[in-house]
Amino acid sequence: MSLGTAATLIAARVIDKTYATQAGDDVVALARVSFDVARGEFVTVVGPSGCGKSTLLKILAGILRRSSGELTLGGRPVDGPSRDIGVVFQAPVLLPWRTVMQNVLLPIDIQRQPRRAHEERARALVRMVGLDGFENKYPGELSGGMQQRVGIARALVHDPSLLLMDEPFGALDAMTRESMNLELLRIWGESRKTVMLVTHSIPEAVFLADRVIVMSPRPGRISEIIDVDLPRPRSLEMINSAPFGVHVAAIRRHFQSLGALDA
Ligand SMILES: Nc1ncnc2c1ncn2[C@@H]1O[C@H](COP(=O)(O)OP(=O)(O)OP(=O)(O)O)[C@@H](O)[C@H]1O
Ligand SMILES: [Mg+2]
Repeated sequence: MSLGTAATLIAARVIDKTYATQAGDDVVALARVSFDVARGEFVTVVGPSGCGKSTLLKILAGILRRSSGELTLGGRPVDGPSRDIGVVFQAPVLLPWRTVMQNVLLPIDIQRQPRRAHEERARALVRMVGLDGFENKYPGELSGGMQQRVGIARALVHDPSLLLMDEPFGALDAMTRESMNLELLRIWGESRKTVMLVTHSIPEAVFLADRVIVMSPRPGRISEIIDVDLPRPRSLEMINSAPFGVHVAAIRRHFQSLGALDA
């Protein structure tokens, strides 16, 4: 059975996820989550801490099994990790014995592709994330925000068509965060990738997205999906525009009505 239309990349239907904890009880992390993401779309996800955002992203990445429901990627059921996905994890999981360059090239090594053919792209990505000159340093020599930026370069090195990002800019200062937002939009605009990005920042969610998925407190359900009709390309000046403020206020109000303090 095919879910969605030809334009659909991700089709999620009534996905549930229940974790069995070490104490022996069950934690329902996701309940009846259904949505579609079109090819080339930029979707952001906001929701209170613990509502299942990371769980959802890991299920989409094929590294965590759903308990029930159907999930297809380009029409194929998801039953494991795919080469065509780049993942930025909430905590940067870098290999401490590999340098910055070697960490960025990890997906290339895993896919047994020749490093040589990708070194130039890897260098350009390291520059793009502002780590020029740190190519041969080890993760232990970098700050948390710098490690997170290595993770972003690594997610892009094999030029995946789907990018899944879990709070990729959470550890960055406001200025670096803004410039990374613009860089990400540039890459997305140029390479026609599909992006799904989790963030705690409602303004960031609105700034980046075509649509914002708003999740309820745990067990995470989709409580609303908001279309962001701001023009593209986006610029930082738009953050001060009235339509931008209207979207941000609508999402804040929504969280207040759910009894959640903030996303
Ligand atoms: N491996 C696990 N075993 C048991 N419970 C888990 C596990 N991973 C997550 N959970 C629980 O599932 C729920 C959702 O967790 P998840 O990490 O997906 O939330 P989140 O929305 O990403 O939160 P945050 O915004 O704080 O990152 C939480 O209640 C968490 O305690
Ligand atoms: Mg999380």
